[in-house]
Amino acid sequence: MWSNAEHMSSARSYAIIGAGMMGCEHIRNLALLDDAHLVALADPHPHSLTAAAALANQYGDTPDCYSDIQEMLQAKKPDAVIIASPNHTHFDVMQQVMPHSPAILLEKPMCTAGEDARALHDLVQGYTPPVWIGLEYRYMPPVSAFIRRVHAGETGPVKMLSIREHRFPFLPKVGDWNRFNRNSGGTLVEKCCHFFDLMRLILQDEPVRIFASGAQDVNHLDEQYGGEVPDIIDNAYVLVDFAGGGRAVLDLCMFAEGSEQQEEIYALGPTGKMEVKIPAGDIVWSPRDVSGAVRTHIDVPKSAMQAGDHHGATWFQLQDFHAALTNGTPPLVTSLDGLRSVQMGLAAQQSIATGLPVPLGFGGGI
Ligand SMILES: NC(=O)c1ccc[n+]([C@@H]2O[C@H](COP(=O)([O-])OP(=O)(O)OC[C@H]3O[C@@H](n4cnc5c(N)ncnc54)[C@H](O)[C@@H]3O)[C@@H](O)[C@H]2O)c1
Repeated sequence: MWSNAEHMSSARSYAIIGAGMMGCEHIRNLALLDDAHLVALADPHPHSLTAAAALANQYGDTPDCYSDIQEMLQAKKPDAVIIASPNHTHFDVMQQVMPHSPAILLEKPMCTAGEDARALHDLVQGYTPPVWIGLEYRYMPPVSAFIRRVHAGETGPVKMLSIREHRFPFLPKVGDWNRFNRNSGGTLVEKCCHFFDLMRLILQDEPVRIFASGAQDVNHLDEQYGGEVPDIIDNAYVLVDFAGGGRAVLDLCMFAEGSEQQEEIYALGPTGKMEVKIPAGDIVWSPRDVSGAVRTHIDVPKSAMQAGDHHGATWFQLQDFHAALTNGTPPLVTSLDGLRSVQMGLAAQQSIATGLPVPLGFGGGI
């Protein structure tokens, strides 16, 4: 158990590294916590800093702004650091932050390269304060309720798990970093690490084999950055076999902004089918005894919905991260979760490139 005794009774200080879209979502959510203060922001892009500082001011926080991470860490010594810089910076930023020993919430994906994710996971094993990876989709309240019901055994052991995301294309980003695989890790790492994490969590198991088919068929083909056309795929089917015999599929389409639901998850077992729909917020249980489907709506507090774009997930994740920081309890989304979700995304992309299934040697159970 980690404890930061000198801060046990006082409010905790936070700093944010990377003050763009997600950094601002964290600012809005930190403002909902009673005993957290945002003391600093670090970002090399002046406009991001100015806009994020102005947002923080609206909530009564007055963070100091830094273009240099080291300078910020030395001057402010925050209790916790939220890293929301672009994916390809995560490994380097972590090397800079860890010597200062704050609790860390590192945005997903943990890293863009498998060897970096492995090296970071190993480094984290020797690090005492909590390191939390921001795989927050499990924190959307309807998804959390769905997982609780599946884990309570309503479907029986899940044999088939289906995750569908039909959504809008990637948004514009500062410096257009998300337009290229070399910066984002590729679509199945950048976006879909969330879904590979959900597969492992729901099935409580490790994958043994991945087969995927996908392409960049529609989006960003008419864009150029420095003369280069983006290379990120916009649709894929990914089939995953798990050690215990369960199988999962991801169905991703990023040219489907007209879709009624953005995410739909189906778990099927011997006693029936459980599904959850976002943004409807509904769970539907369809037992095999044909007594009929039962629909339950899961409410999300308005304040959590308004503080972010992730159906309240950022708020519920932040509360658990903050509890780990204040109570010294272990993180609930670990570097192993971060590592595995990156490895699965990379394996899926390798499968698309080669047309072959990719075996994974992680063992079973988690
Ligand atoms: N948890 C989620 O669901 C979720 C959602 C969106 C984004 N994210 C993640 O959050 C991170 C940021 O994404 P975003 O959408 O905010 O991107 P963004 O482009 O809007 O913001 C990134 C910011 O980081 C800054 N930056 C660049 N290099 C930096 C460095 N070395 N050190 C500090 N700051 C640096 C940029 O200037 C920019 O202001 C990414 O890792 C992304 O995958 C997570």
